[in-house]
Amino acid sequence: MKAVNLHTEYLINPIGIDSKRPRLFWNCMDGIKQSAYQIVACNEEGVPLWNSGKAASSQMTHITYEGDLESRQRVVWKVRLWDESDSEGPWSEEAFFEMGLLEKTDWTAKWIAGNYKVDKKKRYPVDYFKKTFTCEKEVKKARLYITACGLYEAAVNGIRAGDFVLAPGHTDYTKRIQYQTYDVAEQLVQGENVIEVQLADGWYRGSCGAWGLVNQYGTQTKFITQLEVEYVNGQKDIIISDDRWQWSNDGPIRFADNQDGEVVEASRVPGFCQNAKVVSCDVVPTASNNLSVKEHETFQAEKIVTPSGKMVLDFGQNIAGYIQFHFEAKQGQTIKLRFGEMLDKQGEFTQKNIQCAGKKKTSPLQQVIYTCKDGENDYKTKFAIFGFQYVLVETDVDVEPDDFTAIAVYSDLETTLHFDSSNKLLNKLVENTLWSTKNNSCDVPTDCPTRERHGWTGDSQLFANTAGYLMNYIPFARKHIRDLCDWQRKDGAFPQIAPAGGVDFYMGVMNGSVGWADAGILIPYRYWKLFGDEAFISDNYDAMKRYAYFMIKRIGKRGFMAKNIGLNGERKKYAVNTGQSYDEWAEPQDVHSMHWIDMIAPHPEVSTAYTAYMMHLMAEMGTALGKTEDVKEYEFYENKVKASYQALAETKEYTLDTDRQARLVRPLYLHLLNEHQTEFAKKRLIQALDNYNWRVGTGFLSTPLILYVLEEISIEAAYKLLENEEMPGWLFMPKAGATTIWESWEGTCAQGGIASLNHYSKGACLEWVFQRMCGIQVAGQNHFIIAPHPGGQFMYASLSYKSVYGMVSVRWEKAQNGVWQYEIHIPANTTATLCLPDMEPVALNAGNYSKGGLE
Ligand code: BGC
Repeated sequence: MKAVNLHTEYLINPIGIDSKRPRLFWNCMDGIKQSAYQIVACNEEGVPLWNSGKAASSQMTHITYEGDLESRQRVVWKVRLWDESDSEGPWSEEAFFEMGLLEKTDWTAKWIAGNYKVDKKKRYPVDYFKKTFTCEKEVKKARLYITACGLYEAAVNGIRAGDFVLAPGHTDYTKRIQYQTYDVAEQLVQGENVIEVQLADGWYRGSCGAWGLVNQYGTQTKFITQLEVEYVNGQKDIIISDDRWQWSNDGPIRFADNQDGEVVEASRVPGFCQNAKVVSCDVVPTASNNLSVKEHETFQAEKIVTPSGKMVLDFGQNIAGYIQFHFEAKQGQTIKLRFGEMLDKQGEFTQKNIQCAGKKKTSPLQQVIYTCKDGENDYKTKFAIFGFQYVLVETDVDVEPDDFTAIAVYSDLETTLHFDSSNKLLNKLVENTLWSTKNNSCDVPTDCPTRERHGWTGDSQLFANTAGYLMNYIPFARKHIRDLCDWQRKDGAFPQIAPAGGVDFYMGVMNGSVGWADAGILIPYRYWKLFGDEAFISDNYDAMKRYAYFMIKRIGKRGFMAKNIGLNGERKKYAVNTGQSYDEWAEPQDVHSMHWIDMIAPHPEVSTAYTAYMMHLMAEMGTALGKTEDVKEYEFYENKVKASYQALAETKEYTLDTDRQARLVRPLYLHLLNEHQTEFAKKRLIQALDNYNWRVGTGFLSTPLILYVLEEISIEAAYKLLENEEMPGWLFMPKAGATTIWESWEGTCAQGGIASLNHYSKGACLEWVFQRMCGIQVAGQNHFIIAPHPGGQFMYASLSYKSVYGMVSVRWEKAQNGVWQYEIHIPANTTATLCLPDMEPVALNAGNYSKGGLE
């Protein structure tokens, strides 16, 4: 038996991490069960650092590295395994991890900025910095540690350092600044070297959010870097940012903004005629232990000439990213590119669906204005990404579609799933959901890559499970949880968006909104389950508890604009009738259309429901962590609040006798109703679906839940809804030609036409497709529950999932005699409980099984 797929903290050979007790992971190959492992770790010279000895254990994930660690330490590790018959396998390939700068005192560099006085009402060109230095000897090792308040791009001897796009990523820079570590040894030469850094506004002081608010984290962009060089003779050198760096802001990029784009004058060359100035920063940079944002797929365009004669490039896929072009031109010729998601009814390019247009500002502009130099013009956007499929080209240069390439940009998430089925539209829905995940993963899980680009917590929580199947989302989600905790208020509230920044002040009341702020509990809970990683709940328990108490404090209170809910006594005392919330949000307009009062008034039904549910999850997590006293309290409130919910469901306003599917799905999924109410709600849900021709009538919160609820009523009901191709419905989107998931069921006809075509949230129904329809459920401790539910009009479906324990797969297919056939693969060193319809559960070891083999 051999260990493969070695990871450290879910990352492959990371450099510059700062978790002081990193955990090691592998998967097993050949053999059935790992009976023991041995890990040995050395430094890069081969000096032993840690040897676990032969540990009698089947554990292959979350194994804590027990050696000592210090700043810059590189650890090279490998593992060998013993199988079920105690026979010793070969050593694995080597893996490594390298520590970054762990202490404040490791930073000797200074924060530096452009040498000008900032007027916060103005925007400035990109800053160009340069430092020339000499390497006296032959270089053996070199690390560039760097970060910025703003966005930076660094180059050593003209070659870019690393490939992190929009570095250092997005955090609340007033609290946390992530640094990156790049190996630049190969770029350095013995003799004279030059390091250059470009610095742009980014999220720090450029546009954020729907209205493009600026200066959200500060007004003075700045960066810090230190280049640590080790020569072959063992001597060391350090080059730090300080006021000896040269600076100017007369280079080619005249304007750069994440959302509005770039203005470039290609013939300019920075003069570096002044020195940088030293500035202060109170935050000590930390590592992100996350995946970097990188360039991924590329696309070529087809040219469209619109009815009005305009040139539009169609890249065939809605992406988040930017463009690269190459052509010859004359000095002074110009090209203007505008990026959008759609053509309007007349076939003309439009940005209307993604822009908020006010008196002062229209946002986002998503454009590049480029003035050519003589000869070859090579351009690639540096400091912005756009959500687009179409590019409007306005130019006096003779260009061809082949001169342009679109590049998708997202955090370096690996796709972990392959799905296929006899329903082509469902296959496309999976592909489109994967695209919307990629397009909304730029260091932060965003709602859309165009209009708001916020880390909306409602979206991230409801999509967390689906994302966990689709991609190696763990380090990314862990960073998101950190952003949530960085925001957390003294009173325990979690935010509606994280990182903060870019939201109008009057929306502040929505922080703590149920369904959104609950992400602070829901994501750690779900990832604990999906990846068997208890650190998700133990590391975040205190923050979750503070939020639970924030919720408890709201119980029984009557808030601003609260309606009379018609409850008395105990039932009133434990209902939640305070706190703003988004309610279900974005239901089809003919089911429920939001009124502005809805944004201000409390929503007792959804608030009471989620309060009871959060108490339930806290009790479960508290039990797992041995917090007995806390658990008693959570359970007390869960029961009381649940009873109030049941009473609420008997009132006229919140009756279960409703066609609003969300009102029935929510309490059924969250198990909030009594037996009688449960029976009624199930029947009423079927009636509501009948009344709506089996189309989807839920909004944000209940869309991921409805298929689970229907499955419990009857599997065929779940299939009937899933397979419906009418609008509103999941399959309507791919049927209408979508390449991503829409924000509104109605596409751009909703929200007065301001509706993005790239919001992943409605794709969250896929967690049911993966977990229940295909039947792969990770149950923790090297174990799966394999419980496929074939049905509907499907002839076959198959799912392969690269789980934390290895690749697991299920395929079912209808044989000619109408009987379902199954093929199942259980990875080495795992077990599964197989539950097939109409069969007693069977325990499986690692191996390949087919239905015949099971009988
Ligand atoms: C965003 C959503 C978000 C919502 C809050 C919208 O504008 O695009 O995805 O969750 O606001 O209700």
